[in-house]
Formats: sequence, structure tokens, C-alpha cells
Amino acid sequence: MTAPEPGWPSGSLGRAPPIVGLRREHEVLTVALETGRHVVIEGPPGTGKSTLLRDIARYAGRAVVFAEGNAELTPARLIGQYDPAQVLAEGYVPAAFTDGPLLRAMRVGALLYLEEFNRVPEETLNVLITVLAEGEIAVPRLGMVRADAGFRLVAAMNPFDTIGTARVSHAIADRICRVVLDYQDDAAERQITTAVTGENGEVVNFAVTLARATREHRDVRMGSSVRGAIDMVLLLTGLARRRGEDGMARATARDAAHAALSGRIRIADGCDRSPESVLDELLGLVWPEDAPTPLPSDGRTPRDSGAPDGRGKANGLPPQAGTGQRRASASAVRRDRGGNHARRTLGRAERRPARRGCARGAAGRRPGRCGDPPGRPGPRHRPRAARRRAAARGPDLLPAGRGRAAAGPGYPPPWRGPG
Ligand SMILES: Nc1ncnc2c1ncn2[C@@H]1O[C@H](COP(=O)(O)OP(=O)(O)OP(=O)(O)O)[C@@H](O)[C@H]1O
Ligand SMILES: [Mg+2]
Repeated sequence: MTAPEPGWPSGSLGRAPPIVGLRREHEVLTVALETGRHVVIEGPPGTGKSTLLRDIARYAGRAVVFAEGNAELTPARLIGQYDPAQVLAEGYVPAAFTDGPLLRAMRVGALLYLEEFNRVPEETLNVLITVLAEGEIAVPRLGMVRADAGFRLVAAMNPFDTIGTARVSHAIADRICRVVLDYQDDAAERQITTAVTGENGEVVNFAVTLARATREHRDVRMGSSVRGAIDMVLLLTGLARRRGEDGMARATARDAAHAALSGRIRIADGCDRSPESVLDELLGLVWPEDAPTPLPSDGRTPRDSGAPDGRGKANGLPPQAGTGQRRASASAVRRDRGGNHARRTLGRAERRPARRGCARGAAGRRPGRCGDPPGRPGPRHRPRAARRRAAARGPDLLPAGRGRAAAGPGYPPPWRGPG
């Protein structure tokens, strides 16, 4: 298990809690910015992209201009625009021009932090090409604006995002470096949750275990980030106080789990289940109905416990093919430990035969059908059309040990094509 690096000198100023882990990414990003590179930070939600950038900016005393990438971010909104009323009154004078985030960052040499990079329309991204290459931009009627030497673009994007996203052209990709974050490991998530909530012990262990388990469930396309665990701890402790409960009660934990996690998990395409039913299933594994408290957690998940291809490691690139046998999921292990509980969720390694990283076609991705009893994988459970597609595709090629992050279910290629 990779232990989090407690309180390493992060350069955080003020009262911001110290950054947990991410030492390697911190170094790489710092050096990239120092050497004049532009960077995209890529990772699922809640993996610390903004936290990392803020920390580096604070440490370096750099100003950050934030911009949210979305379909409405037109070139004019990114660059800036003339105020029509002022133009009518005074003509195209510089005073009538309001800088957008790009020009603001360029003029003062700040970091332009552009979130949801793959949601930015292509015509807006094209504006950045000359800026990244030449450090200047020609604005109609305003003239040429040169970037201060300190200007850098730091983009952030979520590779799991499949809705409203578009291709980032090679012209852009060729001008920026890439830093990849993955979900934090179990210990780091506990540390973060404790730092943010001020809570500790069983409630944190339970919330983190449940949030992490959502990422492993067969019917979930995208599980909860550490934000889910943080909210769950706050809701659970708050509800317990309000209800006058001493310690954790299962019904309260369920209420907190539904509120904190159900909106955060995305059910797999073609799967007709509610998030609540998935959460109830996972709750049954982590805290069986007949148990007075959650099953003891030793803070280990299978991949945290030494497998080289762990996806939950904050400092790892997506695991590479053929790096070893994946182990069973946390829930499966926990179930085994529980002993007498009949139902058991199989780990992905058990459920899924070796296969190639694929698009997330529902049937092609999973051996069993959504909602099938766990443990009954195999071609005969695939819908007929999927079986035909699978037969046409030929044998599955993903070597055992390829993690979700690298295989199709989780990690599409970094620069996705449209659709
Ligand atoms: N490595 C970390 N150290 C300390 N706190 C962290 C770390 N990673 C995440 N957090 C905490 O988790 C929460 C989410 O982190 P952050 O906003 O940086 O994620 P993000 O990757 O930018 O997410 P998004 O893609 O949704 O913008 C914050 O409350 C932050 O404090
Ligand atoms: Mg962010």
C-alpha cells in the first residue's frame, strides 16, 4: 500500500489544509510551469486537480484567472469584447473593450486555469493555438496583445466525461504537456475526508469504503469521488446528532448514503437500475443488515495492498496492460471475511474475462447483464445483439491485470473524439 505522504511541505499558504499525496504530480506541474510549459491536468472529478493548481499557485505567489469551460464559452467570452453601448458613444476605443479571462491572464502574466477543457467549443480552443505557440493574439480592432512572460495555460479535464465533450485537436494537444491524476488511494481518501470534515474513525472509514465501492460496482459507469465521502460523513454525523443517536445507526447511514452518493454515481448505459438500489446493495456488503456496526475495515483495498496496477492511487498513471493479476474488489474480500453472507459481489477480475479496452457499449463491456445476480458472468448472459458483436470482434484481448482506468470502462483515450 502506498501510504499518503502526511503533511509534506506543500507550499500552502493561509489556512488551506495541506495537500495529501500528489508529490510527483506537484513536482512535474511546478517544473512544467517554471519552464514555460502549458499543461492539461487530466483526472476524474474530485481527484485534486484544482487543489493541486491552487497549491502550486500559492506556493509560487502566482495569480490565477479561473475560467469554466462549457458550450457557451465563445471566443469573445474567452478573449474579451467591446461594450456595444460604449462603442456607439465613443467608437472602438480601448476603454470600450472589456478583457476576458484570456487577456486578463496574458496581460498580468497569470495562470489561466481553464476547467472542463474538453467542453470548450472547438472555435474557442482554436483561439488558443497562436497564444500557446507565439504568446500573442491579434484582437480585431484592438490590436496585438502580447502575453507577459509569466502567462501559462493550465487546463483541466475529466476523461470520464462523455456528455457535451468534444475533440481537443492535435494542434492544441501538441502544444501542452499532460499530467494525469487518478483517484486517491484508500488511506489518502481517509486523510482528506478527515482533514475536510474534522471527523475521524469509524464514520470516516465507513464513508470512504462505501464511496470507493461505488467505483467498483458492475452497474456503475462512474462512481463517487472523495467529495461523496466528505458529504456522507457530514450528513451522517449531522443526522445522528439531530436524531439523538449515540454512534452510527444503519438507517441513518442509509439516509446519508442516499443523499450523499446517489446523485454522484452514474449508472451504466443500458442498465435499468436506480442509484439507490446499487447503494443499498453496497451497503448490504459493507454493513450487513444483521450486523450492529459496519464490518471492520482495515483500510485496505485489494489494489492498495500491493498490486502494481492499482487504479486508486493518486500518483499513478492509468495502469498499463499486462501488469499483473487484478485482485478481487474490496466488497468481495469483505464478503469473504464476513463468512456467512451468501451473496457476494465478484471483483472485476473475477467477473470479467480478459478483454480489450473498449468503448462503453453496455453489453460488450460486461460479461453479465445489468442486475444479474453477481457471479453469473458469461456470454450466455449477454443480449443476442451483443453476442453477435462480440463474435464479430473476435477474442477479447485485454490482458489480465488491466485496470478499469486503462480499459474502456473508465478511461477513454485522453483526447476523445466527438460522440
Ligand atoms: N490530494 C488532495 N489533498 C487534499 N485535499 C484534496 C486532495 N484531493 C482532493 N482533495 C479535496 O477533495 C475535494 C475535491 O478536490 P478538487 O476540487 O481539487 O478536485 P478536482 O479534481 O478539481 O475536481 P473537479 O474535476 O470536479 O473540478 C476538495 O475538497 C479538496 O479539498
Ligand atoms: Mg476542479
